[in-house]
Amino acid sequence: MSQRSLSVIAPTYNESENISPFIERAKDVLGQFDWEIIFVDDNSPDGTAEKAFHLSRADQRIRSITRLNDRGLAKSSIQGMLSARGELLCVMDVDGQHDPVVINEMAERLEREDLHIVSAARRLEGNQDLKGLSPVRQKLSTFGNWLCGLVLGRKLTDPLTGFFVIRRDSFLQTAPRLGDPGFKLLLDILHSNKTLRHAEVPFEFGARRNGQSKLDVYVIWKFFTYLLSKLTGGVLPDSLISFLLVGGTGIFVHLAVLYSILWLVPFAVAQTAATLIAATGNFLLNNLLTFRDRRLKSWAKFWGYLKFIGISAVGIVANVSAATLTYERLVHVVFVATLAGIAIDTVWKFVIANKFIWK
Ligand code: GDD
Ligand code: MN
Repeated sequence: MSQRSLSVIAPTYNESENISPFIERAKDVLGQFDWEIIFVDDNSPDGTAEKAFHLSRADQRIRSITRLNDRGLAKSSIQGMLSARGELLCVMDVDGQHDPVVINEMAERLEREDLHIVSAARRLEGNQDLKGLSPVRQKLSTFGNWLCGLVLGRKLTDPLTGFFVIRRDSFLQTAPRLGDPGFKLLLDILHSNKTLRHAEVPFEFGARRNGQSKLDVYVIWKFFTYLLSKLTGGVLPDSLISFLLVGGTGIFVHLAVLYSILWLVPFAVAQTAATLIAATGNFLLNNLLTFRDRRLKSWAKFWGYLKFIGISAVGIVANVSAATLTYERLVHVVFVATLAGIAIDTVWKFVIANKFIWK
C-alpha cells in the first residue's frame, strides 16, 4: 500500500538551535508517512534559514523557504502550505512544544471520521497544567478562548493552538478568504470556512527547548483587534479598530493634561498643550501597534510625526464643523453632536494616515 503524503509546515523565527532536534524527532515518529518538512523563515538574524538550507541539501525531504522584509507566523504558514506537496498539511512549532508524534493521532482521527481538519488542544483534560505557559499567559489564554467562542459561535477547547492537520484541498478551498490573524491561523481557517468538519485531540504542551517565545504585546493586540473586527461582521477592518482604540486613549490623555495644567495657564494654552501631547501619544502608539508592519523609523518617523500633527490640526477644524453642523441642522443635543464631530475627525485622520503617513 502506498504511504499517505504529509507536509509539515514549520514557521521559524530565531530557532537555529531547535531545527535539528526537531527533524530528528520527526524522523523517528513519522515512519508511516511519505513526509516532507518545509521551514518558512522570516530571515531570522540568528541564521535559522541558512541552517535549514544546509539541512535541506543533505536530505531531499527537507525544504527551506525564506521571506524577506515581513514578519508573521500565520503569513509564513500560509506561504508554506501553498507550496507543500502533501495531501495532508500539518502546521506546528519547532521549539519542542509540539511533539510530532501527535501528528499520527490527528491524521488517524481525520481519516477515521472523515474530517477536514483536526487540531491538537492543550487542555482537553479539564485542568491539565499548561506548564509551557506563564500565569499571565494562562489568564490571557482563558480570556482569548472565551472571545474566540463568541466569534466562532461555538466553543472549542483550544481555538488558539498552533498545532493542526488539514487536508490540502480543504486548505486551498479556504485560503483565498484568509486574513492576517497574526498567530492564530487555526481560528481564521475555521471562521473563514464554516463547512469544515473539525475535531480536537488532546496533547501535552511541552516546554520550549531553546530560545524564547515571539508572542509579544503586538501579537496579542493584533489578535484582539482581529477578533473585534470579526465581531463587527468584518465591517470595521482591524486596523481601523486599532486606530479607534488608540484614539480613545488619546481622549483620556487630553483631558488629564488639560485639567492638570488649567489652573496654571490660560485655557487656550492648556488646550493646545493637551492636543499636542495627546496627538503625540496617538502617533507613537499607532506607529507601534496599528501600523506595526509599516512602522516608521528615524527621519521618516519625524516627518510622519509632523504630518500627523498637521492632520490633527485640520482634524480639529473638521471636528468643530461637523459637530456644529450636526447640532444646528440635526439633533440639538450637545453630546451627540460632539460624538459626531469626534467620529468624523477620527475617520478623516485614519484615511489620511493610511494614505500619506504609513503608506
Ligand atoms: N516565520 C515566522 N515568522 N515564524 C514565527 C514568527 C514570525 O514572525 N513568530 C513566531 N514564529 C514561529 C516560532 O519560531 C515558533 O516555531 C512558532 O512560530 C511559534 O512561536 P512561539 O514564539 O514559540 O510561540 P508560543 O510558543 O509563545 O505560542 C504558542 O501558543 C500560541 C497560542 O497561545 C504557539 O503554539 C502558537 O502557535 C500558538 O498560537
Ligand atoms: Mn512555542
